[in-house]
Order: sequence, then structure tokens, then C-alpha cells
Amino acid sequence: MKISKKLSLLLILTLLFGFAFYGYYQNNSIEVSYYSINDERIPETFHDYTIVQVSDLHTKDFKGDLHDKISDQDPDIILITGDLIDRNRTDLDFAVQAVEEMIDIAPVYYVSGNHEIASGEYEDLSQELDSIGVRNLDNDFDSLEKEGETIGLVGLEDPLLLTQDEIEETGTAEKVIEETLATLIEESGTDYTILLSHRAELMDIYASTSIDIAFTGHAHGGQIRLPFIEGLYSPSQGFFPKYTSGLYEENGTQMIVSRGLGNSIFPVRINNRPDLVVLTLKTNGIE
Ligand SMILES: [Fe+2]
Repeated sequence: MKISKKLSLLLILTLLFGFAFYGYYQNNSIEVSYYSINDERIPETFHDYTIVQVSDLHTKDFKGDLHDKISDQDPDIILITGDLIDRNRTDLDFAVQAVEEMIDIAPVYYVSGNHEIASGEYEDLSQELDSIGVRNLDNDFDSLEKEGETIGLVGLEDPLLLTQDEIEETGTAEKVIEETLATLIEESGTDYTILLSHRAELMDIYASTSIDIAFTGHAHGGQIRLPFIEGLYSPSQGFFPKYTSGLYEENGTQMIVSRGLGNSIFPVRINNRPDLVVLTLKTNGIE
């Protein structure tokens, strides 16, 4: 009797320890997701060009591991696709310091997420990011140049920044975003164009334009990932969301959805480790 009680206690303790370890691992151990896109339309000088995407950090402190993992990829550029800070944890000093360390590795391009806007501190954050040399692409464009060849970069600000006037004037928020994106693509004037945007759920809009690759986040991988149905829930898409992780293709536009690195209101990830995206560009015919 005594032995079986001891055995039960041992079993319970082992299970508890196992759950605790699994929970810690699922929320703190960064997984690097590698993708490559091979397209003859990519300028030849960009063959093997490496892009790292940091999304939805929500001011999570990985104690140097995020910096080391980004550095290990030896990226040409780093893209931040919003929610660098959390609306309830707006530690700007931490966020700016983290980005400053990324700039030592490669040039950093940034667009806002809903949490920056909801925090009420976006203006301060934006100024600080400017001051350390981050290229803010909120409703703006730029280009990457290599030996005379170019790839366009366009960025969308988070739709939470849209004003009621703008929406009423154009009809719907989607229409405003569609028009903004079309104008940015036209102004950038590049043949091959990469988009930075926080919102994965706007894939239909991206696919209706000539965007070649879109980098997005916001879905947090659906928070809990289950076999067969994948993500369970994500903001803006609800239960069983369509776009949560990986590479999607529609009408010639490829979209990479990062599962993000941190958490927001719901503090637990299950079967959904923090995600660091690495994309390598390949040009057909070049080995
Ligand atoms: Fe978000």
C-alpha cells in the first residue's frame, strides 16, 4: 500500500515536472523556420539573398538568444512586421535596445502592428527607431540595390491607424488599404516587390496586387496548434484561422506568415514554439 502511494506521488510529480518543462520549452525555445523562394524574376544578383523576419515580439526577453539566432543566419536584411511591443507591456527602452542590437547584424526595416497603435506610445517608439537608423516603412517604400539591380520593399501601417474619415471617404477599411497598397507599388516602380505588413488575414488584398512576396504575422500561429486543424484561434481571424504559419500562395503572390515570438493576452503557446523566419531568395537556373 505504502509503495503504491509512493509510486503514485512519484508519477504525479514526474507528470507535473514534464508539463512545466514542456510549457517552458514551448514558450521560450526559438524555432528557426527556413523557406526559400525560387523565381526567375528575382534579379540574379539577389541569388542566395537572406532575409530574416522578426514578428510579434511583444517585448519578450529571450536573454540574448534571439540576437544570437538572428546573427547565426548572417542575414542581408532584417524585417520587423509589427507588435514589437505589447499594449500592456510597453517597455520602449527594452524594445529599442533589442532592435539596436539587430542593426549591428544587418539593416532593419519595420512596420507597425496593432499593439504599437493601441499602446498610445507609437509616436515615441517611431521616433526612437528613427534615431537608431531603422527604416520605417509604414505606408512607405524603399528599394534594395545590388550591383545595379533592385528589389522593391513596400510597407503597410497597421489598419488600426486608419481614421473614420478615411474609411467613410473610401467606403471600407479594406478599400483604403487596397488603394494605399496600389499607390505604394506604383510609386516604388520596381519589377519584383516585397511587402511588409502585420496582418496575415489581408492575403486577398495582397494577392489582388502585383506583390511577389508578403511578410506578415499577427496570428501567433493560432496560439495552440493541433494535428490536422493547425491553429486554434487567432486575433482578427477567430477560431480555426486560415493563415497562421508558413508559406501561402494565391494568384502569384506568396505570403509568409510568422507564428511570432512573444505572447499577448493569452500567455501560453502549445505545439507552437516562438518562430524566427528565414527566407533565402533563389533565381532559377543559378546553382
Ligand atoms: Fe498583432
